[in-house]
Amino acid sequence: MTIKEYVKVRKEELKDLVASKEVVPHLVIVQLNEDDASNAYVRGKLKDAAELGIKADLYKFPVSMSEAELLKEIDKLNHDDSVDGFIVQMPLPKGINEETIKLAVSPAKDVDGFHPLSKLNPCTPQGIMDYLHRENVDILGKNAVVIGRSNIVGKPMAKLLLKESANVTVLHSKTKFEDMHNYIKNADIVVIAIGKQHYLDNRFEYKPSAVIVDVGINRDENGLHGDAIPGLPVRLQTPVPGGVGLLTRLALMENLLKIK
Ligand code: GUN
Repeated sequence: MTIKEYVKVRKEELKDLVASKEVVPHLVIVQLNEDDASNAYVRGKLKDAAELGIKADLYKFPVSMSEAELLKEIDKLNHDDSVDGFIVQMPLPKGINEETIKLAVSPAKDVDGFHPLSKLNPCTPQGIMDYLHRENVDILGKNAVVIGRSNIVGKPMAKLLLKESANVTVLHSKTKFEDMHNYIKNADIVVIAIGKQHYLDNRFEYKPSAVIVDVGINRDENGLHGDAIPGLPVRLQTPVPGGVGLLTRLALMENLLKIK
């Protein structure tokens, strides 16, 4: 099933789940930045919520807001019984410490899964795992290579794959090309999230049975491009656009419904 098909099917199921609830779940999205990527994400999240019958509000604040003011708003949301879950859209403007903000969100309402005490997982890795399961991709004992070590994707992705007993290797900007080549050649699953357009290309060799998950979002005048060239000779490669972005959005709704 393509990601688009999978997301459509799963949304129908979630719509029924929301309709069966006595109280309409309520999500709040806090946004301070004005970058195009964030605006696109936020629009997508609001659209998904509306489709599913979830109440979603956008609290948009000026980029000039101070950390203290943002912490005050977060405290209000933590104590607002009408709000089931909320996220603070990343990245945050300079001068606001993202770690401080992540720790300020109550773990009980942290649908981003960013707080160390949150019972939920970050949306991108969780969405990817859900899709791999739906596609019956074997994980146990398989060679999984995660390229990129960000806090939002690379690190939590490695953790989730490890939890399901994959042999996990995390590669990054300091990895030598020759090593990159050797790891990729032997990989059953490659998750790439480095923000380098078309980094995975024909310089590398792939197992024909490999699954490549492309988390890259690189924008140029021709549109959106992944971290991998399209059409690699593998079993399954997720497209960009119409790939992991949709899984991330779906996982946010799933996370909210796990809370409420
Ligand atoms: N920016 C990019 N991805 C995400 C995400 O999953 N959550 C939040 N809050 N910000 C993001």
